[in-house]
Amino acid sequence: MTIITSPHELTGSDLYVDLRSLLGRELYVKCEGLNFGGSVKMKAAAAMIAAAESASLIKEDSLIIESSSGNLGVALSVIAASKGLRFTCVTDRRCNDLTAATMRALGTTLLVVDEPDPEGGYLQARLDLVRRRCAEDSRYIWLNQYANEANWRAHYDTTAPEILKHFPDVDVVFVGVGTSGTAMGCVRHFRDMGSTARIVAIDAVGSVSFGAPAANRLIPGLGAGVKPPMLDPGLFDDVVHVPEADAVRTCRALSARGMLFGGSTGTVIGGARTWLDRHDPRRLLQAVCVSPDMGDRYLDTVYNDAWVAANFGPQALLPPF
Ligand SMILES: Cc1ncc(COP(=O)(O)O)c(C=O)c1O
Repeated sequence: MTIITSPHELTGSDLYVDLRSLLGRELYVKCEGLNFGGSVKMKAAAAMIAAAESASLIKEDSLIIESSSGNLGVALSVIAASKGLRFTCVTDRRCNDLTAATMRALGTTLLVVDEPDPEGGYLQARLDLVRRRCAEDSRYIWLNQYANEANWRAHYDTTAPEILKHFPDVDVVFVGVGTSGTAMGCVRHFRDMGSTARIVAIDAVGSVSFGAPAANRLIPGLGAGVKPPMLDPGLFDDVVHVPEADAVRTCRALSARGMLFGGSTGTVIGGARTWLDRHDPRRLLQAVCVSPDMGDRYLDTVYNDAWVAANFGPQALLPPF
């Protein structure tokens, strides 16, 4: 039994889905979306607030501000509400209505960017707005998830040790890269523990994080229009760039089996399948991947037939397995 007195005490989940019967290979999905914030970002959010508190940065009149495509915003909204803090989330028009409504219901002030920066896309436009607000009003405290050490440390201290505890002989771990907090925390922990597991970063086609060309992307969470400052690409054994249509098809194949996962989970599992098919044709490896969130925030997109057909064509409606 787990009893908590406030929602920020429940940041993780140690549940794994065994996909062997579905994929015919040993791939376990670590489900990080089962908490009050509904995503892996509860870990980074709680760790960044705790770090700001222990550095005595948060005063009575402080206004927490952060840029988020959605999940960190929801996580910070939960934590701010539970701690009586005021939070402003700078997001963009790709943030879906349900996510925006969730943040508002939790008492958060939303600033929505309508125009992408011509070079750095929506992310750059959001960061510019945060910087402007901080320059105008000294009460703002920008947590800056893209550069905040507490972001990757949260995963160094929790996500990676959890995987190693349950799968000490794991051969390969697949982790999606947004800010890169999850992936950097995991790869550093595995390296420091002397694990020989290969750590494979999963990115979206169109993301510039690993030096690939920029292109329009529709699924929030994974990938970036600006290279994440805390990302060290050299630490990873490999990187897979997953087309969004593959992510969508993977999500829908899983939902057909009762598992309504989020878009970046589809990206990570799709990328894991691609990598494993190429590197492990005899299906001998044990693999774990990290699922950042569940699918309820994607009902209007990934799970909407008309949206999928309009954006990726009718073939994206077909399950890949
Ligand atoms: C749905 C989803 N997946 C993946 C990520 C990426 O995680 P990280 O920022 O730790 O790289 C995020 C981050 O916002 C997210 O919201």
